Amino acid sequence: MKPRVLRYESLPSTNTEVARLAVDGAEEGVSVVADEQTAGRGRLQRAWSSPKGAGLYFSILLRPKLALDRWPLITFVAALATGDALLEASEVQTDIKWPNDLLANDRKICGILAEAIETPAGRAVVLGIGINLTNQAFPGDLVNVATSVANESGRAAEREAILAALLQALARWYSLLHEPEGAEKIVAAWSSRSSYATGKLVQVTNGDETLQGHTCGVESDGALRLETAQGVQLIRAGDVTSVRPARMNV
Ligand code: BTN
Repeated sequence: MKPRVLRYESLPSTNTEVARLAVDGAEEGVSVVADEQTAGRGRLQRAWSSPKGAGLYFSILLRPKLALDRWPLITFVAALATGDALLEASEVQTDIKWPNDLLANDRKICGILAEAIETPAGRAVVLGIGINLTNQAFPGDLVNVATSVANESGRAAEREAILAALLQALARWYSLLHEPEGAEKIVAAWSSRSSYATGKLVQVTNGDETLQGHTCGVESDGALRLETAQGVQLIRAGDVTSVRPARMNV
């Protein structure tokens, strides 16, 4: 995969632009960065706040040559690569919340949105990554749940250094995913970097359904294993939140 970066001042969404290029026949690796997005999208049909200069708004086109059961691991690849980039370029240490939120000190610093699309050259993936560079990236009422690179590192976030590190790390992890033992290595690396992988008491919300239990690992296709009162359930979609155990009065 050879990244080629196209830059824009303003776009509705970098994911939408990469999808358009993909349908026009663009090659794997074509990437789009915008200074602002006017209709940035998040998971579960949510909006992604994208004010000018406050975040890194990035999308890349992938045309994976993988069995379909490995495709969900593309978001794991993105989380691992973004974690590497933030550490290397800004010395910010991150945790991964299933499936692919990056947290710093328990607050969200990056979101990842992978969308499968049909193109004349076959099924492809648009992988979008949004990194909060400053606290202006998110609405003020989210200050207790969101953070930024500048806030965590105590210095100005260098967008270009983060982007360069991200492109290199993405190429490395994505190439590993195509190797025979790659999926196992990626799941192992993801698990070692996620405090949510095992032993965490969480609540999972998916539409009207809510489950609570302790996490007990991830499957080879990226599903989260949750030990509930009814037994182990496999979680493939939904929102995970950490639940603090009730304190005992003694
Ligand atoms: C989430 O956590 O809900 C995922 C957020 C993904 C946001 C990024 S910003 C670049 C790309 N373009 C979009 O419209 N969304 C993704």
